[in-house]
Amino acid sequence: MKSDVHVFAPASVANVACGFDTLGFAILRPGDEMIVRLSKKPGLTIKKIHGDQGKLPLEPEKNTAGVAALALLEHLGFQGGIEMEIIKGIPIGSGLGSSACSAVAGAVAVNELLDRPLTKKELLPFALKGEALASGGAIHADNVGPCLLGGMVLIRSNQDMDTVKIPVPEDLYVAVVLPELEILTVDARNILRKEIPLTDAITQWGNLGGMVAGFMKSDYELIGRSFEDVIAEPYRASLIPDFYKVKTAAMEAGALGCSISGAGPAMFALCKGDEVAFKVGIAMQQAFFRAGVGSERYISTINTLGAERIR
Ligand code: HSE
Repeated sequence: MKSDVHVFAPASVANVACGFDTLGFAILRPGDEMIVRLSKKPGLTIKKIHGDQGKLPLEPEKNTAGVAALALLEHLGFQGGIEMEIIKGIPIGSGLGSSACSAVAGAVAVNELLDRPLTKKELLPFALKGEALASGGAIHADNVGPCLLGGMVLIRSNQDMDTVKIPVPEDLYVAVVLPELEILTVDARNILRKEIPLTDAITQWGNLGGMVAGFMKSDYELIGRSFEDVIAEPYRASLIPDFYKVKTAAMEAGALGCSISGAGPAMFALCKGDEVAFKVGIAMQQAFFRAGVGSERYISTINTLGAERIR
């Protein structure tokens, strides 16, 4: 058994426009880090959280990382003591899978400390328990899946935790722009319709199929044509200042498509090539700036590694 372990878990973009709760991918940065150590004090202790502006609870059973780690420790029958230090790199309520990221980091770090008794895929249910705490009990693996496993991940079934890694074209880049706002996932879910007209359902599943086929066939035009969300985006757009202007700016700068990252307020645009992604990211930031909103920009390929031990 190791005496301490340091883990990095990446941010992720959920939904990918047309795949509400069923499609997501990991990006290179930002991300959360977690250090876990064996401790003489029995049970799990969260010693310190850095970078959360005091917003997250230290009680393990109220913290997404703590819940994931506790569930795993109980499953493994571990009787000793573990101390956890969390370094939040992803702002809370950003739409970049912040809560999922901490939950994944908690499960991965404990698993590494105990000499990897479970595979990454087997950690999914434990990380999801942590994530459920932040989403009002709703189980959706479209952040946890890609953050843990890396790559573009289709959640074939959230109930069965059936995940499928989808290959993506090599030259696929993403521009992510995070405005200085906070949206709680629970609020962004509460404004959605509970029943969907058949015509909208048909539009959405056609697009999701098209998006997945576009990734697998490296067909950039098909990816672009499939970039339509009639389920969440029309309702959530009102939560983001000048959403449609930012989206138009991304499209005019050459994006294949642009939508809300997860529950927002971050927005993302998929692009062919890094030069286009840089231009698109700047255009999106400028549009937010014209709306009086500052923002952060991240340009990335799809992160194929997911959460990993860095020390
Ligand atoms: N699929 C989720 C949503 C991701 O859009 O509500 C956010 O956690």
